[in-house]
Parts: sequence; C-alpha cells; structure tokens
Amino acid sequence: MVQSSSAVSTGHAPGLGARQIYEALREQILSGVYETGSQLPSSRGLANDLGVSRTTVTVAYEQLAAEGFIEVNQGARPRVAASLVPREASSAAPKRTGPVHLSSYGERLRGSPPWPDYLPNRLKVDFRYGDLAPSDFPALTWKRAMNAAMSQRPGRLAYDDPRGSPRLRQALQGYLWRARTLSCEVEQILVVSGSQQGLDMCARLLLDPSDNFVIEDPCYRMARQVFASTGATPVSVAVDSDGMKTELLEGITARLAYVTPSHQFPLGGVLPISRRYQLLEWSRRSDAYVIEDDYDGEYRYDIRPVPPLHKLEDRSSVIYLGTISKTLSPMLRIGYLVVPPELQGVFATAKQLLDRHCPVAEQEALASLIESGGYESHVRRVRRLNGERRGTLLAALRRAFADRIVIEGADAGLHVVVWFKDLTRSLEDVFVDEARRAGVGVHPISPLYAHETDERRCDRIGLVMGYSALTIRQIENGVRLLAGVVQRVSKGLPAQLSNKLGRDDSDSA
Ligand SMILES: Cc1ncc(COP(=O)(O)O)c(C=O)c1O
Repeated sequence: MVQSSSAVSTGHAPGLGARQIYEALREQILSGVYETGSQLPSSRGLANDLGVSRTTVTVAYEQLAAEGFIEVNQGARPRVAASLVPREASSAAPKRTGPVHLSSYGERLRGSPPWPDYLPNRLKVDFRYGDLAPSDFPALTWKRAMNAAMSQRPGRLAYDDPRGSPRLRQALQGYLWRARTLSCEVEQILVVSGSQQGLDMCARLLLDPSDNFVIEDPCYRMARQVFASTGATPVSVAVDSDGMKTELLEGITARLAYVTPSHQFPLGGVLPISRRYQLLEWSRRSDAYVIEDDYDGEYRYDIRPVPPLHKLEDRSSVIYLGTISKTLSPMLRIGYLVVPPELQGVFATAKQLLDRHCPVAEQEALASLIESGGYESHVRRVRRLNGERRGTLLAALRRAFADRIVIEGADAGLHVVVWFKDLTRSLEDVFVDEARRAGVGVHPISPLYAHETDERRCDRIGLVMGYSALTIRQIENGVRLLAGVVQRVSKGLPAQLSNKLGRDDSDSA
C-alpha cells in the first residue's frame, strides 16, 4: 500500500523533534498502518507536512533504518523492511481504563456486534441470502457509465443536492412508474445509501423512545434493530402465508408500521388487497406511517407483479423504500425513498446531516443506465438467471427430500424458506455445524422470529435459502451435500449430537 505523506500526520504541532517522529512512525509500522514493503513518505514531503526541517525527518528515518524497521535506498522513498511482521493491530491501540460513557443510543448498541453477514467464507456452497453472483453484474456497461459520469462535470468539485442527483431522481421517477406503476413527484424521491439508510432516517425522524413501532414476526432483523435502536418498543404482529395478519392491528397504538407487502421477508407471502386496505385504514386511524420495503419487487416468477401499497388511493401515510441491492449490487449502496410531500424537507435535512449526499458519480452512472434502458434489460436478464437458479433449487430440494420438507415463499424474490418436517428445533445447532463441516452454509429462520410463539413453525428446523449468488452446479451440489447432512443428523450420527441431545434432555428434565 502506498501512502501519501499526509497519511502519517501525527497531529503534533510544528517544532516536533526527530525522536517523536521516529516513535510515531515506529508505532504506525508496528500496527500495520504501513504494511511490510510499502513506501513511507519522502523526507522532503514529510518535513513539509509536519513543518520541520528535512534533517529532523532524516534523523528519524536513520534511526528506524538502524533498528531494521525500514530500508533506505539512495534516491528512493524509504520502505518498510520486507522482514518485518506487524504485531496484532488490537494490541497497538491504547485502551482506556475506567467506564466508557456512551449516549443512550450507544448503550443500546453496546454488546450487539455487527451482524456478520459480510464475512467471506471458504465453504463450497453458501445459501446465504443477500449475496449476488459477480458474473451477473454488468461490469463493462457500469464501467462505461462510471467513466462518462466522472468526466461529465469537469468544472465542478462541490457538494451536491442532499436529496440525490436530480438526473437520477428524474430517471427513478420514470422507472418506478414503468416497473412498479408507482407515480410520484420527483421532489418526493430521495436517494439514500441503501435501504438501510432509509430505514435509519425513518427511525430517527419518526420514533421517540416512548413510542411503539409495528413490525412483522418473523421479520427483516436489520429493520427491527434500527427501529429498536431509537429506544422505541417493537410490537410484533404475526405473519402467515399471506403476509402480516393485519386484523391483529386492531387496538395497537404505534407511530409506524414496517412491512414487506410485495414479498414478506422472510416467509414470502404477498399481502392481499383486503389486508392492504386494513393496514392503511389502521394507519389513518392511528396517525401512523407505513414503511413499505419493496426490496425485491423486481423478482416475480409464477405470479403477476403486485402494485405497491403506495399505489392505493389512501397513500398519504406511506413511505416507499426501494433498492438496487438485489438487482445490481449490494456493494453500491444505493437505495431510494418516496416520502409524502410534508416529509420532503425534514428527510432532506436529515440526509445532509448524515453524510451530505450519496456519491455523485455512482448516482449519475445509475441514471444513465436507467435512461438508456440498460437497467431494465439488465433486470430482465437477472430475473431470468435467478428464475433458472430458483427452478434448479426447487427441483433439487424436491428430489432430495420429497414430502419431508415444506417450501414457502418461492413465487418471488431471491430466497425460499424450507421447513424440515422431521428435524426438531433442538437439532438446529448440530445441523448448522454438520452442514458447515460438509462445506455448506445454511441459515436458520429462527433468529428472525421475535417470539417463538408459533409452535407449528418454530418447533422444526426452517432455513432461509438464498440462491442468487450460486451457479446451477453449486445449487445441485449444495442440496446433495445437505441431503447427507439431514440423513446424518436424523440418525444421530454426528459426533457431538449425542452430547447435545444429552444436554437438551437434561435441560428439559
Ligand atoms: C427486507 C429487506 N429489505 C432491504 C434489504 C436491502 O437492504 P439495502 O438496500 O440496505 O442493501 C434487504 C436485503 O437483504 C432485505 O432483506
């Protein structure tokens, strides 16, 4: 890694001595700020940055070289010695002693490490939901669009509109109407850093710690967590194969309800029209906002597209949320909100305070893709590819497990839920470990339930199986390996199974 001289700035005032520079650089080398073999700043550059004489820096460099930290060659910038092994990064950071004072928000997050769904793994097949296949990404088209976007604003390096690039918002307005029959004004659209930022803004702007929020059960855990981080109280409303049981809303007081009506996450139901009206009627009576997360509305297989809630007449309380994380890439971090007119101003201010605005070049590139029709043809292509993956998965599951499983939510989206009728919940940990040993990543549905009150569901093992990152072969191989896992776990063959069951028995005794 080559660092610019400003990257080593130690924060010291001018007048710094050679000893301090030596110590700061030694610390940075040891903690891996400068990797083995990477270049340090030139003595002239660093002297300039730090406001010291070149001789002072040279003395520090000579000491580092004498101790073997760096190698100095005439006429070249010094390099970190090839033989140097940086120590563990964590041990370099000075630890504060005594209590850590956090805000009440910080306290609520303390003890909940980030959800580890970003960690890479070495499994043969991972049915992790949310990943897309790199080969599906339109790399060349995107590169061209980015190049054009980078060269389009030669005279301008300045902050942009917090609501998002006007060109992208205009393009999204047309796209939302064509793809989702949703009509809105450009002013209602806000480009955000993925749906997650949209959810975070809704949480900050609409919830106080004394409030309730309605959430599906089971649900998208990142939504539940972001709303709960405000200190507000979740009110879980059960879900069946048609989505949220809206009749249970009667009597609930809450500031907002978060729903996934086009494809309930994770169970996959599509909210019928009667429930949509029931939900909107509840929101009107309760003066609550409905957050409609349309995260994978582009993927429909055997069913007709369902217009969003936002389309219904009484939509003044609906905040619509879309994303390109399921169509282009979750790494681009681009999503969009459609907010009611009275919320436009406050959402724009919140966005500006959070991060000013989303990166402009990516927004312009996406705009040009939508304008050219390239985005929609890409969506058609990935819908077909994911339809093939889905078909392969469903066929492989039926071949391997026949009527020993129940599959839910396969009509839409990029995942299915598979319930194993013969495997009790008490075997879940063993099952996941055994699958991992066989090289297969599986992801139980149980953590997505708020309460495990639904006996029929949660007394069996249920998996959320994503397929959009896998090849046809991987899917077939993964299900084959899984069949072996199920067989071993049902027969109690894994080594640790007998211990585990022994523990469970004694727990329940
Ligand atoms: C229900 C739901 N909403 C939204 C998202 C997408 O989030 P983002 O746009 O922040 O990547 C996901 C991703 O898995 C999801 O499952």
